[in-house]
Amino acid sequence: MRQVTLLDILTHPIAKKYLTRSGMAHAVSVAYHAFRLSVRYNVNPDLATKAALLHDIGHYEWYTDGEWDYEKYKQNDIHAIKGAERAHKLLIRLGEAPKAAKEIALAILFHTDSYLPEGIIYQRPLQKVVRLADEADEEPGGKHHYRQMDYDLAIKKIQDLDQKVDQLLLSKQFKQLG
Ligand SMILES: [Fe+2]
Repeated sequence: MRQVTLLDILTHPIAKKYLTRSGMAHAVSVAYHAFRLSVRYNVNPDLATKAALLHDIGHYEWYTDGEWDYEKYKQNDIHAIKGAERAHKLLIRLGEAPKAAKEIALAILFHTDSYLPEGIIYQRPLQKVVRLADEADEEPGGKHHYRQMDYDLAIKKIQDLDQKVDQLLLSKQFKQLG
């Protein structure tokens, strides 16, 4: 049994607050994509789904006169840095093992290069899985951040995903954390 479940994360007030801001439907959907991709790339589904669920937890609202300001976002965004730190703090608080919390935080830090001046990063398999999962759910113009999902439905879907992760962990051994 895992120390911390996806449901523990989703129902924590900090996660609820920030995931609602960056898009609950997107977070849940990316977690599902990450599960599927974790099988394909043979990475730990527990780490992959947690990193995917939390990958956009660091987003800040860049608005000008009540309108989303893409240019402002592009210039100032550090959501992967902020998200890695925020997710790490939350996971440790929930009782996650420090090594796992670090791997999840790194997967969030490296899930995109959009905030880096040079835009070049080398991604390890877990980090790649989270990037591909994010890209699989992206819509033009950042519309994926605005897709709605009822919180009760998000909880139900995440409970189902917790079961899938548990079953996969039982059927396979993951020697490497990442
Ligand atoms: Fe995303």
